[in-house]
Amino acid sequence: MRYSIGLSTFLLAVVCTVAIGQEPFGKTKDGESVEIYTLKSSKGLVAKIMTRGATLVQLHVPDKDGNSADVINGFDSVTGYESEDNQYFGCTTGRVCNRIAKGKFTLDGKEHTLAINNEPNHLHGGSERSLDKVIWKARPFSNERGSGVRFSYTSPDGEEGYPGKLDVTVVFSVPKDANRLLISYRATTDKATPVNLTNHAYFNLAGAGSDTVLDHALRLNADKYTPTDDTLIPTGKIESVEGTPVDFRKATRIGKRIDSLTETAALGYDHNFVLNKPEGDAKLNFAASLFDRGSRRRLRISTTEPGIQFYSGNFLKGQKGKDGKIYAHRAALCLETQHFPDSVNQQEFPSTILKPGETYRSMTQYAFSVQPVKK
Ligand code: GLA
Repeated sequence: MRYSIGLSTFLLAVVCTVAIGQEPFGKTKDGESVEIYTLKSSKGLVAKIMTRGATLVQLHVPDKDGNSADVINGFDSVTGYESEDNQYFGCTTGRVCNRIAKGKFTLDGKEHTLAINNEPNHLHGGSERSLDKVIWKARPFSNERGSGVRFSYTSPDGEEGYPGKLDVTVVFSVPKDANRLLISYRATTDKATPVNLTNHAYFNLAGAGSDTVLDHALRLNADKYTPTDDTLIPTGKIESVEGTPVDFRKATRIGKRIDSLTETAALGYDHNFVLNKPEGDAKLNFAASLFDRGSRRRLRISTTEPGIQFYSGNFLKGQKGKDGKIYAHRAALCLETQHFPDSVNQQEFPSTILKPGETYRSMTQYAFSVQPVKK
């Protein structure tokens, strides 16, 4: 009896292990090896994630006819990701995603200075050793519920100007029988430090490289947003979306009002929304729903985070990506679940400070479905 349980567990482990593909993806310019892992659901979702930047490289989902397409921007090689054409495609973004005003903050009476990589501000964790640029350790796993990869990285004290040694893990997982990708983040530190992690996937539900996302319909579970100054730093106010072009409380075509924002500093949508959710609720809450009428693919995002940055790909410049596809201006969009931008300098915003002994936790789920045509 003992023997047979042992054998079946062993066989299950073998079957599960082979279900996660692992391949070399290439080498960085410094000669470091990069691996790529493949997760699959029985319903057709295929996700590929690489160890450079714990980056989502491919995300295939079926359309109304069962045809799969890769719905995120990216490159075929590590070199592509290292190039100027990479605008944070699919990466794990941090230590602090989004902007920190003038690259400065004061914590426990000490001023910290960060790289100014988005004049005049600090963006997405810095310029050389931000989390999107480093090589993470990866450990695949699988169980009866599905499969996943646990990425971990230890950022030394002072890396990119941030205080404290930060131990970060990001787990990507796909349930066996659903087209869902769950990303769970955890971090601990040995000194107080700001942490704000997100994934920077660029979506086009018609398939990455298709024209524009202006015809996608977006719904955001947000009554409020954080207006910014001309450098995209929040003014500190929290305002109602009512009567503005950023009101997505009802599903609205992205192109409908975007022209009224083209002349602003954001050049379109590049706004942080304050998600409606019960105070202190740690569960996944509905944040956004994105729909493409042609393919009838729908993406529903839920998160534990208080905010979401909707960025309409205004800086995409026609760079060549996977399979030679062109990523034109506004041909993809990001929905970055996060704490609000510049929180470290904004006393009224939910805090992003992680202290020794605490654990930073964050979770975001991307659920794909196909919406049947209404008869
Ligand atoms: C974020 C920012 C944008 C832009 C992109 C990367 O979404 O809010 O302004 O910097 O990243 O190009």
